[in-house]
Amino acid sequence: MYDVSVIGLGRVGLPLALAFADAGLRVLGVDKDAERLEAVRSKRMPFKEPGTDELLARVDLDVSARATDAAQSEAIVLTLGTPTLSHVEIDMGDIRSVLDDLLPVLRAGHLLVLRSTVAPGTTEFVAGYLEKQRGFATGEDVFVAHVPERIAADRFLAEIGTLPCVVGGVGEGSGERAARLFEALGAPIVQTTPVQAELAKIWTNILRYTTFALPNLLMMDCERYGANVFDVIDLINRDYPRGGIAMPGLTAGTCLRKDFAFSEEKSNAPGMLLGVSRVHESVPLFLVDGVKRRLGGSLRERKVAVLGLAFKRDTDDERDSLSHKLIRLLERELADVAVHDPLVATPTASFEQAVDDADVAFVATNHSAFEQPGALAAIAERAKPDCLLVDPWNTLGAAQVFAYANEIAALRT
Ligand SMILES: NC(=O)c1ccc[n+]([C@@H]2O[C@H](COP(=O)([O-])OP(=O)(O)OC[C@H]3O[C@@H](n4cnc5c(N)ncnc54)[C@H](O)[C@@H]3O)[C@@H](O)[C@H]2O)c1
Repeated sequence: MYDVSVIGLGRVGLPLALAFADAGLRVLGVDKDAERLEAVRSKRMPFKEPGTDELLARVDLDVSARATDAAQSEAIVLTLGTPTLSHVEIDMGDIRSVLDDLLPVLRAGHLLVLRSTVAPGTTEFVAGYLEKQRGFATGEDVFVAHVPERIAADRFLAEIGTLPCVVGGVGEGSGERAARLFEALGAPIVQTTPVQAELAKIWTNILRYTTFALPNLLMMDCERYGANVFDVIDLINRDYPRGGIAMPGLTAGTCLRKDFAFSEEKSNAPGMLLGVSRVHESVPLFLVDGVKRRLGGSLRERKVAVLGLAFKRDTDDERDSLSHKLIRLLERELADVAVHDPLVATPTASFEQAVDDADVAFVATNHSAFEQPGALAAIAERAKPDCLLVDPWNTLGAAQVFAYANEIAALRT
């Protein structure tokens, strides 16, 4: 018997399973991916998440490939992926498939928690599905709740015990049961309705996605007007109590890129968030076009170094990263692309190999490694003398989206 099963040992599920085990619960982890199960069995973290290597080595975590085994525990937490379909619509395929596996083995008293990010109404749908298929009364026979994951990658152990834990139970009984389970992790519990929990989660991400669209749009406007976006941002924010515009960059990643679509499914203002998405999606092309203009119109057989594949600073997660779109666009210009990332699992060239003799160097991810003073000096020394730097993050400190490496390095010495 287990206290809790976690189905989907991905970037959300595995750290959560470890945190439950660390809190003294008997935990079963379930995943259909044999490689993932083997990694956990051999106490090897399959991705980077600070502190979890030590936890995995120390705690007991049984694993299984069968979702039906989850019925051995009182509580079942689903941490499955929820991408979007190619339509503006949540893809609940994994959730539906696991629910169908669980249907025959669910029994009275079970608590089912959706930890995945879902479109508004999904938790009520799951409760209704169990009622329809098995005749359970939710909140009395079985308990269903949404307890969204709100932690950022790389911050799991720092935040799991402190970030308010939002619990949206279907009926009072479900909220109480879910709260009792998550209380073990130590964070304050905030009870609400399922749909409010769903909206709070996706709008947390929509807020960030929209926040970053403004500086990205400003960056593109600045190019049109011959202005420097970093100067304008400084003018907006400096000693101004109502400032606070963020910095530009390649904004994407598995959550920010898709979660807005869960709201757009049924939006009363269709298009507003699609517009936000279009701003981010157009940044790679804006950067490539900017380089082409500065290099006389063609990138054919020009060596281009792309620094960073991860979607976010200092993570090894490259899912939904715009670096890949940038690389595809560069390849379509017949450029010779060399990629370096110090963290992702995908094999890449070394920093030196990527920048040697480069005509252009893009900082596609603002990894802290690229912020070190040595990074700019190494590009200036190894790349072509007139190498163009493209750094929408200002990681290298040039304070220009497009700049020439030798000029910037000379200013620094
Ligand atoms: N990654 C993040 O930082 C983050 C943060 C907050 C919320 N979320 C949300 O959490 C959810 C999970 O995200 P993730 O990044 O952990 O996804 P993931 O793709 O890393 O993990 C999902 C796991 O589920 C497994 N799986 C799929 N179908 C299965 C099945 N039928 N049976 C058993 N296992 C199955 C997969 O093999 C995979 O290991 C998503 O809804 C996501 O939007 C993610």
